[in-house]
Amino acid sequence: MTDATTRERPAAASSDTASSTQPEMTAEIERISAAYERGLAGGAAETQPRLDYAPYRSSILRHPTKDLHHADPETIELYAPVFGHQDVDPLEADLTIQHQGSPIGERMIVTGRVVDGAGRPVAHQLVEIWQANAAGRYIHKRDQHPAPVDPQFTGVGRCLTDADGTYRFTTIKPGPYPWKNHHNAWRPAHIHFSLFGTDFTQRMITQMYFPGDPLFPLDPIYQAVVDSRARDRLVATYDHHVTQHQWCTGYRWDIVLTGSNRTPLDDEDDA
Ligand SMILES: [Fe+2]
Repeated sequence: MTDATTRERPAAASSDTASSTQPEMTAEIERISAAYERGLAGGAAETQPRLDYAPYRSSILRHPTKDLHHADPETIELYAPVFGHQDVDPLEADLTIQHQGSPIGERMIVTGRVVDGAGRPVAHQLVEIWQANAAGRYIHKRDQHPAPVDPQFTGVGRCLTDADGTYRFTTIKPGPYPWKNHHNAWRPAHIHFSLFGTDFTQRMITQMYFPGDPLFPLDPIYQAVVDSRARDRLVATYDHHVTQHQWCTGYRWDIVLTGSNRTPLDDEDDA
């Protein structure tokens, strides 16, 4: 492909899945981070993902180009959704018992509190998760990379927070997986979270990561939150009090639905 249209296409707008190398991608990420750090003293912290974060290639053509139109929520949106206790079975919070046998991988508990911007518990609200298996493979027709599907693991679960805003899941630690953003692109291990607060204006979809992942500096989705302190809020903490003797490891991750310390959202569509 050597026609003028192709040659003149800026690299940042390319949808060619392998048009950039990881070193090129890392350099882009580092340039943006350095520019942010230089400007930080005079500006407000950017605590949510940039919608036009060029290293995350598919976001370039997908993000909104106009400001959102702000409208007052309808009354119903301020006290809904309301979930009945019977709708969610407590067993749905254990992703390791959904089949005949046990899934392969590191069994773990993930727990934490869901709070609003004032630190008040968000009680009796729906938390849903979905994730890859220990080999980094989703049960989804679009995930065809050569890692094994685990017949004992579907990778979805849900629960309601308790009166203290606490959620708790038993699952398997997901593996990292490749995606098509650039050549040799790999996502850090993560669990997707969907949360309904006490009203629709608090709805949040985000991702939880694991401490010390070597893929953090290489990942454009994680790095799209350019403020490092906000980015750190996406990473769970290993908690030995949650870990259970001879059974599983434990991680803790708290989620803030509103306010200036709000947990960063997720702007990905399929990774
Ligand atoms: Fe994912």
